[in-house]
Amino acid sequence: MPKDLDALLREERVFEPSEEIVENSNIKKWMRKHDIESYDQLLERSKNDVEWFWDEMAKDLEWFEPYNIVYKWKPPHVKWFLNGKFNIVHNALDRHVKTAKKDKFAYIWEGEAGKVRKLTYHDLYREVNKFANALKSWGVGKGDRVSIYLPMILELPIAMLACAKIGAIHSVVFSGFSAKAFQERSNDAESKVAITADGFQRRGKIINLKANADEAMKDAPTVEKLIVVKHAENDVNMHEGRDIWWHEIIENMDDECETEIMDSEDTLYILYTSGTTGKPKGVLHIHGGYAVGTSTTLKFVFDLKDDDIWWCAADIGWVTGHSYIVYAPLILGVTSIMYEGTPDYPDPGRFWRMIEKYGVTVFYTAPTTIRMFMKFGEVWPQKCDLSSLRLLGSVGEPINPEAWIWYYKNIGNDRCPIMDTWWQTETGMFLITPLPIAKLKPGSAVKPFPTVQADVLSDDCKSLTEKGGHLVLKTPWPSMFRTLYKDPQRYIDTYWSMFENIYLSGDVARKDKDGYFWVQGREDDVLNVAGHRISTAEVESALVSHDSVAEAAVVGKPDAIKGEEISAFVILKQGFKATDNLKAVLKKHVRTEIGPIAQPAYLSCVEDLPKTRSGKIMRRVIKAKVRGEPVGDISTLANPEAVDGLDKAI
Ligand code: WTA
Repeated sequence: MPKDLDALLREERVFEPSEEIVENSNIKKWMRKHDIESYDQLLERSKNDVEWFWDEMAKDLEWFEPYNIVYKWKPPHVKWFLNGKFNIVHNALDRHVKTAKKDKFAYIWEGEAGKVRKLTYHDLYREVNKFANALKSWGVGKGDRVSIYLPMILELPIAMLACAKIGAIHSVVFSGFSAKAFQERSNDAESKVAITADGFQRRGKIINLKANADEAMKDAPTVEKLIVVKHAENDVNMHEGRDIWWHEIIENMDDECETEIMDSEDTLYILYTSGTTGKPKGVLHIHGGYAVGTSTTLKFVFDLKDDDIWWCAADIGWVTGHSYIVYAPLILGVTSIMYEGTPDYPDPGRFWRMIEKYGVTVFYTAPTTIRMFMKFGEVWPQKCDLSSLRLLGSVGEPINPEAWIWYYKNIGNDRCPIMDTWWQTETGMFLITPLPIAKLKPGSAVKPFPTVQADVLSDDCKSLTEKGGHLVLKTPWPSMFRTLYKDPQRYIDTYWSMFENIYLSGDVARKDKDGYFWVQGREDDVLNVAGHRISTAEVESALVSHDSVAEAAVVGKPDAIKGEEISAFVILKQGFKATDNLKAVLKKHVRTEIGPIAQPAYLSCVEDLPKTRSGKIMRRVIKAKVRGEPVGDISTLANPEAVDGLDKAI
């Protein structure tokens, strides 16, 4: 356990939602229907009757054939809505086009350069069908994998939904990842088809994504077709026989396509995330429970109603976008904003102007973005009318109370509750989160969602209060990941081996005397840089793949805006000199291997790294040094002199 847990500042302020918010909330309405009077009673009742709660929720969705068992829990494996026949796309699209929802906007998209494109539910339905038919025409069917490497453009949700519609499995790779990362993920998934774009806008420049995809395709033997969306209109090379333009293939496709009847437990997607080794984990989600879990949490936590304008300002390349830009909002039939570019382009007023322009009512972003806006000052939000906002949200890392208060005051005008949602790629949906009826404490993600049993445990499995420990989950939830793709043993080892039948999240948290959870960060070798999970091992293996590097150690260094920055220490091979040029080359090398988000902010060359007698690098010692903290017990170090070397390097 980290030693500094009890030294953390305790935040005592409490914020209550207005009566108007409470009384009009979806959750309160639902509670009235079931004679539930208080938040505590809601949590208690749902915890004691998990089947009742989720059965109620699943009834809001359409099943081709009803399930006959709500859930079956054989730790560490769970199944939900057994024997039900279902397709998430039927619920996200097909059923809406039979109602008045058909003419409502599903997405309002804004490009970085200002272009706007709007799709109604009916438009989206037709686009999805056309692309689904195109996929089918190349023999893509149920269970086949499709890799998607697209920026924040409408073809991204269209491609995902088209795959799901015909029962294919999508694997979206964040467009900021490198060619190498895309290649590795395509190959792991053994994808038959890959989808990319010519390019996209980033801070006014065009990023040539196709060039990355070409690089990746040099060694991606399973990929038969590469579909290219024409978006940025930059020049690209089309590889004959392999590459096809998106707009050309959909031209002659029928805009009706039958939806594949799937089992509740059939796979919907794979999404790769960082773990403690260099190899990303293919987190696998399924159709039925995932649909129920994500739509229920969005409906109750962000309280979405028919006339809301929802903006989840994440990238669809991460789980936040999968669950809360694509699937859940479409299932609920709301209008979402989707934005292509960076928040501070062309100036730090961009987001606030968009909120005003589209009348956004519920806005969800990450602490790192809020801290960036704090730096630019309140003059920017003050220029805009943000009175349409009703609720705000935060995700990705712990939000420090100072940023929480700034967000509450300057964006929410002291009247919008902030939903600080704790969850993970693996959990698929919010698990520890406020509801709009809850009292809020800045920096706390409040309490588990109804039915969820979270706890903080000591190493010997004792429940802790007012002390830091392992954040765990004791019972399953519908949108829990089912396994790691092609690696069932790693699923067990990583998440289920520390405590019997209990899910280990990998986060450290504290539970206060009121039962509020305060998540403090990762306990494993995973960094959280600007809300993105990056494993130290991945960056280290990228570094040692360079000719000049013998060994590398990577740790997180606290950063006021990004939460953490990557700090790398390398031992060079004989014959290489630690010049500024070489250091720059190494930083760039990581960028090429993984992507810009993983580029170390600091890189030093050292003679030696602190190691145990068995040769394991002691990152704990390096981390303490980087943070200017005491190194603690180093009696097990084989080479204490390495610590002095670190002092010189920092
Ligand atoms: C961190 C993102 C504190 C946490 C949805 C978790 C948070 C990891 C919060 C998952 C929050 C996410 N408060 N920490 N509200 N939300 N985290 O898989 O460390 O990209 O384990 O999923 O982000 O990151 P992932």
